[in-house]
Amino acid sequence: MTTIAFIVAAYLIGSLSFAVIVSRVMGLADPRTFGSGNPGATNVLRTGKKAAAALTLLGDGVKGWVAVVLAQWLGPRFGLAEPEVGMVALAVMAGHIWPLFFGFRGGKGVATGVGVLAGFHPLLALGAALIWAAVAFSTKISSLAAIVASFFAPFLAFWLCGPGVYFGSTVVIALLLIQRHKKNILNLLAGTEGRIGQKAK
Ligand code: G3P
Repeated sequence: MTTIAFIVAAYLIGSLSFAVIVSRVMGLADPRTFGSGNPGATNVLRTGKKAAAALTLLGDGVKGWVAVVLAQWLGPRFGLAEPEVGMVALAVMAGHIWPLFFGFRGGKGVATGVGVLAGFHPLLALGAALIWAAVAFSTKISSLAAIVASFFAPFLAFWLCGPGVYFGSTVVIALLLIQRHKKNILNLLAGTEGRIGQKAK
């Protein structure tokens, strides 16, 4: 019963789509209506408002981290162990991707995924973020950076956390992230994928 409560709470935390919330608060257009249509920091940046994009990135990242660390800290008192923490991690990702509060139209899960990885192991998130940054700075393509970081994240997880639940959860998250970038992959193959910071028309 407690496990279900944690999973539902994580899903609800994940459902807080910061791209939509920050945009509403700052009087910007709903990110689902322009650019890639993705409620995420990259698309919010297409408004030209860097602060809004940074807040989106922060909010989406922190919610992933909070859900995992709460389960890790409070879980043992309620009989939760690592497998249940893994479920909580997937639940917060599910909330971000299919948010209850925003018509189940959520983001691709990159920032939330990094937050979740930070809960698994800080160096895992740092490694994934550094890979993202290296690809993003050299190509200026956010989606490519996310896809490459997703590809390497499970290897880092195996190295840092061993072949357990956190590794398995990272594999699932990486597959989910790559699947969510289906449209971006088609754009990349067609050579039409936008660059970071390019304003939406
Ligand atoms: O974090 C999402 C990013 O990888 C791609 O975003 O808006 O270019 O589809 P977008």
